[in-house]
Amino acid sequence: MNTADFRKHAHEVVDWIADYLENIEKYPVKSQVQPKEIYNQLPDSAPDQGESMDKIMRDFQNIILPGITHWQSPNFFAYFPANSSYPSVLAEMLTAALGAQCMIWETSPAAAELEEKVMNWLKQMLNLPGSWEGVIQDTASSSTLCALLSAREKHSNYSINKLGFTGNEKFRIYGSSETHSSIDKGVKIAGFGLDNLVKIQVDENQAMKVDDLETAIQSDIKNGHTPLCVVATIGTTGTTAIDPIKKIARICREHNIWLHVDAALNGSALILPEYRWMAEGLELADSFVFNPHKWLFTNFDCSAYFVKDKEGLIRTFTILPEYLKTKTTGKVNDYRDWGIALGRRFRALKLWFVIRDFGVQGLRERLRYHIQLAENLEKRIQENTDFEIMTRRTVNMLCFRYHPENIADEEKLNQLNEKLLHSLNRTGKIFLTHTKINNRYTLRLVIGQTNVSQSHIDRAWSLICSSIKDIV
Ligand SMILES: Cc1ncc(COP(=O)(O)O)c(C=O)c1O
Repeated sequence: MNTADFRKHAHEVVDWIADYLENIEKYPVKSQVQPKEIYNQLPDSAPDQGESMDKIMRDFQNIILPGITHWQSPNFFAYFPANSSYPSVLAEMLTAALGAQCMIWETSPAAAELEEKVMNWLKQMLNLPGSWEGVIQDTASSSTLCALLSAREKHSNYSINKLGFTGNEKFRIYGSSETHSSIDKGVKIAGFGLDNLVKIQVDENQAMKVDDLETAIQSDIKNGHTPLCVVATIGTTGTTAIDPIKKIARICREHNIWLHVDAALNGSALILPEYRWMAEGLELADSFVFNPHKWLFTNFDCSAYFVKDKEGLIRTFTILPEYLKTKTTGKVNDYRDWGIALGRRFRALKLWFVIRDFGVQGLRERLRYHIQLAENLEKRIQENTDFEIMTRRTVNMLCFRYHPENIADEEKLNQLNEKLLHSLNRTGKIFLTHTKINNRYTLRLVIGQTNVSQSHIDRAWSLICSSIKDIV
């Protein structure tokens, strides 16, 4: 492809993107294909000769698109959102064009310095302690792994990195029974062993029971274990529950335990002063992560990881082969030492575009609108005697189930709600996912898609109500 061809196809692709996003609601929000349906349409071997972009685009539309679930649809209410926006897409196009590999300052000084600057902006926007420092990681999973490894190294005075485990460490990691599975994965990878991940029970609001945490720590100490790290969550995946950070932080401080706070979704809402109560005590934590790629209009992937002790982070990850030695080493941020991967994408650019395009007030307005929509729907669910709210709403997610007065059998209710979920998702008109709260099958509806409006919520709710007749 030469420059003239590129120019032509790039314009076509931009037109395609604009049409797609403008008309996204005409697609079934959840892909309706069967397993292997896409795979079987693709040739078994790579083409020997280059093919025309027209043909490639045709196949993209005819083969690939039916197998896409439309995360940017305003009818997407599943999981946690991975929302995006026009400025983010524009920056991502530029990032692809630059194709910069931003492992160290020298490989693109602007990338490193912009990252430092936008992380400082985020720090102010979320009201995080001024002395913390931030770095962009690909995902919250990687950020949490960094926290676990940093805790391990700090505790062992950086000796496990050098010598490996001696076999005498009996580290314990704590999270609630509702912490995200990325903590389990991190515990596996960091070498602690899943048996040493202690899951603390939750209260009626699905938040970690602090007294149980204290008891577990005391008992572990008595039995010769070393409590190493607590992972507390602001916004659990199941129900967006909020662990009491301040109380947990006090316990961590008393026992010299690393506190990592995972606010993957809810963290974005900390730009709203009225939601800062969720993070009370956060200044006592050692590390904190939230995902702008969930609810801050910055397309996947972009995870913001903040630490109290930058030197500890760097010491955990630093590696300096001859070919990476530069004259600026130590004077600038070489982000390869702030996480796991050497190679790094230029993720700061899209965050910069988004924050500047929306402005902090614009971002606040959009989040407040989403929360308002959630509040409106919550009222309607509460008013309908056939439905039940299952747990306290914290920001933009509702947990509810179909529960008419004449059905008391829990097994039957679980079956009906599972049927309801599948029936709704089969329509292609909306996409929801579920969780279980105390073994009760619960529908989760998250309102965080960039362009969702009251009319989408109205339609979703009337579809949910009218689908009842298909399941009973
Ligand atoms: C609370 C929480 N933490 C961590 C994660 C993992 O996020 P990522 O996909 O960025 O690794 C999720 C994913 O939804 C989550 O809900």
